[in-house]
Amino acid sequence: MCHAPDAAAMRIDVLTLFPEMFQSVLGASILKRAAEPVTDPATGRVRPPVVRYVLSDIRDYSTDRHQKVDRPPYGGGPGMVMQCQPVWDAVKAVEAEQPELAPTRILMTPQGRRLDQALVQQLAEKPRLLIIAGHYEGIDQRVIDRLQPMEEISIGDYVLTGGELPAMVLIDAVVRLQPGVLGHEDSSQDESFSQSLEGGLDYPHYTRPAVWEGMSVPEVLLSGNHAEIEAWRREQARRRTGERRPDLLPPEG
Ligand code: ADE
Repeated sequence: MCHAPDAAAMRIDVLTLFPEMFQSVLGASILKRAAEPVTDPATGRVRPPVVRYVLSDIRDYSTDRHQKVDRPPYGGGPGMVMQCQPVWDAVKAVEAEQPELAPTRILMTPQGRRLDQALVQQLAEKPRLLIIAGHYEGIDQRVIDRLQPMEEISIGDYVLTGGELPAMVLIDAVVRLQPGVLGHEDSSQDESFSQSLEGGLDYPHYTRPAVWEGMSVPEVLLSGNHAEIEAWRREQARRRTGERRPDLLPPEG
């Protein structure tokens, strides 16, 4: 589907005023492991890092004496607007670090296209992403215009204090799709929004014990009949999708 197993690591640049916010998320668990070489204990083979995170502080690029990056909006109103200069210089400097690898530029903003699994899959195939996490009331529109083409992406119809958490959400969703990141190569197959579930919701899952607090696991899952289990799961997934997210059902016909 996407890269060959030994494809070069995806580079993810993040431009933010708060790089420290990313340390705990990118420095733990699966996102951390994705940026490290991992040795398979069974074969001794080393899987190289599949991703490289490069965090840049936009403030470092401010030419202001006091390293200011934001000013009140023209026309009045609340809040502050991020200025063009530091954002533009940061993007240009970071892109020049690896000029042969032009990034897909992304701005996290509530005014963007809403993120869904189809968009995540598209982005997961790119060799390099450059994500700008805006803060304050927004970014001066002129630098957004000048940085086109740039995907403006929202993680949902609610407003957060900045683009940092949305950037982390996007990174998590993209990195887990890189080959070799999830323990089992299949583990992003049968999941909500996947093609194998027709873009719908996942089915319910059960594990031991077979009876808990008087509640039994559905009989069919203990039957060992894989065809029946598959059919039951697909039926459950369809039913849930119809009940909870009818907007995700495939068109009739
Ligand atoms: N910045 C603030 N709110 C946001 C959202 N919902 N999505 C992306 N960026 C944001």
